[in-house]
Amino acid sequence: MDLLFVGDVVGSPGRDMVSEYVPKLKKKYRPAITIINGENAAAGRGITEKIYKTFMQDGANVVTLGNHAWDNRDIFNFIDGAKWLVRPANFPASVPGKGISYVPAGEFEVAVINLQGRVFMNDLDCPFQKADQLVEEARKRTPFIFVDFHAETTSEKQAMGWFLDGRVTAVVGTHTHVQTADNRVLPGGTAYLTDVGMTGPYDGILGMERETIIQKFQNQLPARFEVPKEGRTQLSACLIQTDRKTGRAKSIERILINDDHPFHDY
Ligand SMILES: [Fe+2]
Ligand SMILES: [Fe+2]
Repeated sequence: MDLLFVGDVVGSPGRDMVSEYVPKLKKKYRPAITIINGENAAAGRGITEKIYKTFMQDGANVVTLGNHAWDNRDIFNFIDGAKWLVRPANFPASVPGKGISYVPAGEFEVAVINLQGRVFMNDLDCPFQKADQLVEEARKRTPFIFVDFHAETTSEKQAMGWFLDGRVTAVVGTHTHVQTADNRVLPGGTAYLTDVGMTGPYDGILGMERETIIQKFQNQLPARFEVPKEGRTQLSACLIQTDRKTGRAKSIERILINDDHPFHDY
């Protein structure tokens, strides 16, 4: 009963990597469900219904979001009807969409929760309180609970990992677009990774065209960042192996596919 999670898909280069490698990863690892973070899937900003449907066709079972959830206005047209789309749960209650989804996985269900951090980010409701509430609700239905914690700082993410240790299957971070090397199973049985990393342009800065960003660091003027149209690409993901009886994690493995880390199907 394994879970595959693909980190922040950025624009068409990221979507192409998903189409190419998610089927290969599924063939190799046979995960029970595949989760994709799609907050940057539409040209780096938000997601459209068409892209959401393409992710599902490419093999995703559920799509998570983050602070960029609302950047493409199409989200407001389809989020309430999109059963397998989760946005950060700690947005104000009036915001459309939901922060938890129960995804069928054979004879089981996996609760997938999306939360957003508050350090160097918008001041949302407390993600820890919201996690408490949702995890308590989810545990009545299933021991398999996956949390995508979309946050900026390593400390806030570690805090969430330890806060939920023993209560959820995994806490995996997104948002920084850089994969960290601290994958581990915490003593209570929760798989933890500070950030799973980004899927998209390999030679940009966090997936966006680097020249504009280098300029902005120097001149401090407003600039519009764009996803590079061509160039090398990468996919960042992780695989969590779980105990079928308890829902606890047995292992968490990092997956990185790029020119420096080629994919092997064995
Ligand atoms: Fe992102
Ligand atoms: Fe983000």
